[in-house]
Amino acid sequence: MSINYAERIPNNVNLSNDRRLQRALESWQPSYLDWWKEMGPENTEDTDVYLRTAVSVDPDGWAQYGHVKMPDYRWGIFLTPPEEDRKINFGDHKGEPAWQEVPGEYRSTLRRIIVTQGDTEPASVEQQRHLGLTCPSLYDMRNLFQVNVEEGRHLWAMVYLLQNYFGRDGREEADALLQRRSGDPDHPRILGAFNEKTPDWLSFFMFTFLTDRDGKYQLAALAESGFDPLSRSCKFMLTEEAHHLFVGESGIARIIQRTCDVMNELKTDDPERLRSAGVIDLPTLQKYLNFHFSVTLDLYGAEISTNAANFYTNGLKGRFEETKIEDDHQLGGESYGVPDLDGDKMIQRDVLAVTALNERLRDDYAEDCAKGVDRWNRITRKAGIDYQLKLPHKCFHRAIGTFAMGTISDVHVAPDGRIISDAEWTRKSTDWLPSDSDHEHIQSLMKRVAAPGKMASWIAPPPRGINNQPQDFEYVKTN
Ligand SMILES: [Fe+2]
Ligand SMILES: [Fe+2]
Repeated sequence: MSINYAERIPNNVNLSNDRRLQRALESWQPSYLDWWKEMGPENTEDTDVYLRTAVSVDPDGWAQYGHVKMPDYRWGIFLTPPEEDRKINFGDHKGEPAWQEVPGEYRSTLRRIIVTQGDTEPASVEQQRHLGLTCPSLYDMRNLFQVNVEEGRHLWAMVYLLQNYFGRDGREEADALLQRRSGDPDHPRILGAFNEKTPDWLSFFMFTFLTDRDGKYQLAALAESGFDPLSRSCKFMLTEEAHHLFVGESGIARIIQRTCDVMNELKTDDPERLRSAGVIDLPTLQKYLNFHFSVTLDLYGAEISTNAANFYTNGLKGRFEETKIEDDHQLGGESYGVPDLDGDKMIQRDVLAVTALNERLRDDYAEDCAKGVDRWNRITRKAGIDYQLKLPHKCFHRAIGTFAMGTISDVHVAPDGRIISDAEWTRKSTDWLPSDSDHEHIQSLMKRVAAPGKMASWIAPPPRGINNQPQDFEYVKTN
């Protein structure tokens, strides 16, 4: 399925034959571009970036590379091809044909699901908008901008669904998506992690490794949806998401590599000496990992959720890789273990599986994160350094669910899963989460390096260029 770039809005949904939708999207487009100018990457109006663009939606070969001025990037609407006779694969409607139109009874729920997903896309662009000014290399700046334009496109994907299938409410929601702002106390983005700051590149790499991975799991669950246009939109978004995860994982891997090299060169693991040498000591990396992992776990919501149960029974949102799971896909009498409090002890409690779908998706996600952390640990091991990064316990530093701090139960959990006192939390939390001085050190490293082939002191060069370009390729040209 090739994409028509002759049109103002590139698409593979035959937009030119749908005047009503075309008009709606064309009237939204200028507001989108205004938003991009105001909230997209700073100072880039005149910047040429070596970007990939979708040319078709086939699993391989959809990407075409070339230098593009960012505001001229062709954001468009791409869905994977329809699957013939696709059925709803889970819940009460299991076995019925997938919906091509929104079922009336689920209209407001579906709209809410799409708006919540859509809201995260521009939010991350807003969070990352200053990072180009402090890039560690042209290669990294290019990757940042690639992620940014694709998050912009993900917003288009959700806006297409809203405008095409939800009438006037959908158009209003599409406008509102451009009005909320990450971190704005009066008009914040919908979900907590998307109102946090991404003030430095260590946070950016942690965000793309951890929070974009939440994106992967949410999109994968929505790709199972009985509402076929949502499923097909999410399937194509997932192909783009893979690159965002790569940016995060390889970014942290290069930081670890550089730190290990300097540790071996100086024969020290003293954080102060390493900091003076201009690298990021491994304990600081661990703290950033603790912070971003815990904040991202909150995105999955409470352990027990009737909303999640309804989304599933109604066929709107499935489990990760639903069709590969071997069960009846209705979860009648099945149970699932969730962490719970019994007095001041943490226990595992079996509950009805259908009410624990948030927890299940969180567990699937955490397992995937742990694999990435294992790959990072190979770097330290190979360098002969005795330090392993570790994901904190899933109940550590939570703001949502049974283990939320500052709520009625006001419980504190250490990274190793022990329930601890307020006093211990206050004493130790700066050993576990980035402190002001950690933030200051990271901030002090954030200096723009923008000469082809050059790298900042705290990160190793990538083993391979984008699209096999040489090390000194000019990924970004500022005019
Ligand atoms: Fe996205
Ligand atoms: Fe992403």
